[in-house]
Amino acid sequence: MIKLIIFDLDGVLASTSNEHFLAWKMIIKDKFDIELDDSVEEYTKGVSRMESLDVILKSCNLEKSISMKEKEELATEKNEIYKSLISKINQDDIYPGVIKLLDYLKEKNILIALGSASKNGPTIVKGLGIKEYFDYIVNPASLRSKPHPDIFNNAMDYFGLSPKECVGIEDAISGVQAIKDAQMFAIGIGSIAQLNHADVIYKSINEIDLKFLKNLIEGDHGKIS
Ligand code: BG6
Ligand code: MG
Repeated sequence: MIKLIIFDLDGVLASTSNEHFLAWKMIIKDKFDIELDDSVEEYTKGVSRMESLDVILKSCNLEKSISMKEKEELATEKNEIYKSLISKINQDDIYPGVIKLLDYLKEKNILIALGSASKNGPTIVKGLGIKEYFDYIVNPASLRSKPHPDIFNNAMDYFGLSPKECVGIEDAISGVQAIKDAQMFAIGIGSIAQLNHADVIYKSINEIDLKFLKNLIEGDHGKIS
């Protein structure tokens, strides 16, 4: 019996994953005149701001030439750019099917948590107008980033539940890994090629089959084939 669904935010509920990488691209171009390769983006997903920066600097062979102070400045500036890119975020930016799914879960009395690595998470769900749906929002500040399971475990522990009672929904390779390491059922949102470690994969939230979800909620992991 499922009691809690833990949602990733960026790339699951809204397109804010794109804005994260766009902000990094802008700052790396501006400071170093380097065009960040799009293939780097996946490795920045689900990890903290500083870890994303480390991935990016490594991809540009800059990791040894930047001091800690410069890194902190770059991360702060990236966040300012990111915040300006999402400053007008509103209900129109919610991915199709999200509200329908949240309403369905409320109707079924399923607890809903936000399990994002982003410190901007609370601001974004407020901007999207969906903050009221969340029974709990994980504060990622002192937790290890995905693929560590900490963010998902934190939500589960808050409600005193077991992994079998929880489902995670994620669009990133690291995020699905975090859910699986937390021993929860993982719904991947994206491509089968990237997320084949998820228990079930849909191209978007809108495609989640509510009949399947009903069975998942009423059954348990062992009964899902
Ligand atoms: C995650 C994103 O949700 O949040 C990462 O996938 C990002 O790309 C991380 O680095 C941290 O976000 P923020 O808003 O705290 O800089
Ligand atoms: Mg994501």
